[in-house]
Amino acid sequence: MARKLFVTTALPYANAAFHIGHMMEYIQADIWVRFQRMRGHEVQFVCADDAHGAPIMIAAEKAGLTPQAFVAQIAGGRKQYLDGFHIAFDHWHSTDAPENHELAQDIYRALQREGLITERVIEQFYDPDKGMFLPDRFIKGECPKCGAKDQYGDNCEVCGAVYQPTDLKNPYSALTGATPVLKTSTHYFFQLSSPRALAFLKEWTQTPGRLQPEVLNKISEWFSEDEEGKPTLADWDISRDAPYFGIRIPGTEDKYFYVWLDAPVGYLASLKARLGAAYEGYVADPQVEQIHFIGKDIVTFHTLFWPAMLHFSGRKVPNHIFVHGFITVSGEKMSKSRGTGISPLRYLELGMNAEWLRYYIAAKLNARVEDIDFNPEDFVARVNSDLVGKYINIASRAAGFLSKRFGGSLSADLGVEGRVLLDGLRAQAEHIAALFEEREFGKALREIMALADRVNEFVDQHKPWELAKQAGQDAALHDVCSVCIEAFRLLTIYLKPVLPALAAQVEQFLDVAPLEWSDAARALGRHTIRPYQHLMQRADAAHVDKLFDAPAAAPAPAPPAHPGGEPVAAQIGIDDFAKIDLRLARIVNAERVDGSDKLLRLTLDVGEGRTRNVFSGIRSAFEPEALIGRMTVMVANLAPRKMKFGVSEGMVLAASHADEKNNPGLYLLEPGAGAIPGLRVR
Ligand code: 2FM
Ligand code: ZN
Repeated sequence: MARKLFVTTALPYANAAFHIGHMMEYIQADIWVRFQRMRGHEVQFVCADDAHGAPIMIAAEKAGLTPQAFVAQIAGGRKQYLDGFHIAFDHWHSTDAPENHELAQDIYRALQREGLITERVIEQFYDPDKGMFLPDRFIKGECPKCGAKDQYGDNCEVCGAVYQPTDLKNPYSALTGATPVLKTSTHYFFQLSSPRALAFLKEWTQTPGRLQPEVLNKISEWFSEDEEGKPTLADWDISRDAPYFGIRIPGTEDKYFYVWLDAPVGYLASLKARLGAAYEGYVADPQVEQIHFIGKDIVTFHTLFWPAMLHFSGRKVPNHIFVHGFITVSGEKMSKSRGTGISPLRYLELGMNAEWLRYYIAAKLNARVEDIDFNPEDFVARVNSDLVGKYINIASRAAGFLSKRFGGSLSADLGVEGRVLLDGLRAQAEHIAALFEEREFGKALREIMALADRVNEFVDQHKPWELAKQAGQDAALHDVCSVCIEAFRLLTIYLKPVLPALAAQVEQFLDVAPLEWSDAARALGRHTIRPYQHLMQRADAAHVDKLFDAPAAAPAPAPPAHPGGEPVAAQIGIDDFAKIDLRLARIVNAERVDGSDKLLRLTLDVGEGRTRNVFSGIRSAFEPEALIGRMTVMVANLAPRKMKFGVSEGMVLAASHADEKNNPGLYLLEPGAGAIPGLRVR
């Protein structure tokens, strides 16, 4: 029976263009969706821009635009990527669209009726310089769980922990650098720690087959209890104070939903915009399977908050959350907020074939939450040896003989060996289908390439190029080439979810209707094909190199045990270095700072006719008195940073081990004798 599948990918924030990580997710989901359609299932595949939140509001302000205009500008740039990489969403929407305002408010009211919304006065970080409550993403500090530095106030990109900004260690405002102060405000909470919510979530998450085992394992920690017997999963703060770009909370004047509340509602809003009047019936249909493809960084939102929102507002819950890892480029981690290795748009602009990337990414993907790597050499090798060398070659080796010698008509006989070969290829249809179904794309492609190997062995054994020269071998030549074309058709069926545009060209060439999975069970039989036209170019390493803006060699791999305790940082150009203005400075005064056991307050003479005030975290290693009069090196053009104790106007340079605790020792840089303040270090 035909399944009904409602499939989404995560909604991208509408504040930046797509990067390779987005494309990987869309490609993964698109392959799965295309596969399902080829199997005869009905799919609604939708996405939208995630429009709300303070970061977008602030970015719009910086750009001199209203948030709406800013978001529209970003949204306008989406199509070229989606079309370019053959991502066939049925609809693309926005979380700022009316459907989403309505749905989010409906859901909220339902949760309220259920008694699951509570008000609490909380203390929140406030930027005294900017005069506003600081959005989570504009407070940075150390992750309370793993200690990673420079993490945002809502969740940790390193360990995935979700927390409150006030949980951060050593917080600072990313807007002004100021140390935030605490101010009170009434917030609304979704009571996820209530026994009912916990009971539901345990049941939902633990339903067999719902989540990948490693995902279930990871989120299970939320169901444990602390020493006081309180659940680890806390109530979720879903409100933000004005000014905020978002959806107004019903019954308030100046409170908005936190962006993560209305973002997943955007899945439904997009579906509603697509289906119109049919929406209500569709979402109530128990046959519909709801599936979200997401990255591993947003698991908590999708496996806890979102199912609970749906369930307690009387809606159907997701059937599966399919979680993937990140994509690295040449082994370097990229982050969604900090940019990427290669630009998908540049890839297209360079005229590189989008299906090379689809193929390469598919070849690396599996059903687990594993990171995958884009490696340029590997990319070229796989495209050329697999796609062109093994698959395309089958058609190009046979098609010429068929059109020149047989008017393009296929032999109906094929010979015994040929039929055995083709039966073998057909026999794999369900196995390969099962691999696509399970999102084991890499395995599926390996199976398909193993079949292509078999076909190429057959060609090598029967040598059509020799048959073509021998008298009386016409029938044999006809059979061998016809077998190749039928094999090529079968391989094209199996590859079509990954290579949809190529498959469309092949359908033209073979003169057949759009290929379905079930076409693998049928033989082409008596049939005439069209003249062969070149189907796919080989990838060229020099071309692929152009993807990387700085053609510099990849940074040398770090030696395993560096005496400094950390590998040498990524390579930079001389221009990058020149941006840092290092100057010799004399320490004219040094004193302890009340209330800090880490800092010393230094007064530095940098030859400017005035002195500078610099806070430096070297208290553990130096008695201030011993520093007075010494020369050192400072970063003279570092933006002044407002700290709790005053403004710091630069930074002095000192060397230490990465793991200072276990390898103490702090060495202040000092110039040789005779140096004077103000000289530039270069
Ligand atoms: O992490 C992100 O990029 C979010 N914009 C994803 C939202 S997914 C869904 F909930 F909308
Ligand atoms: Zn962390």
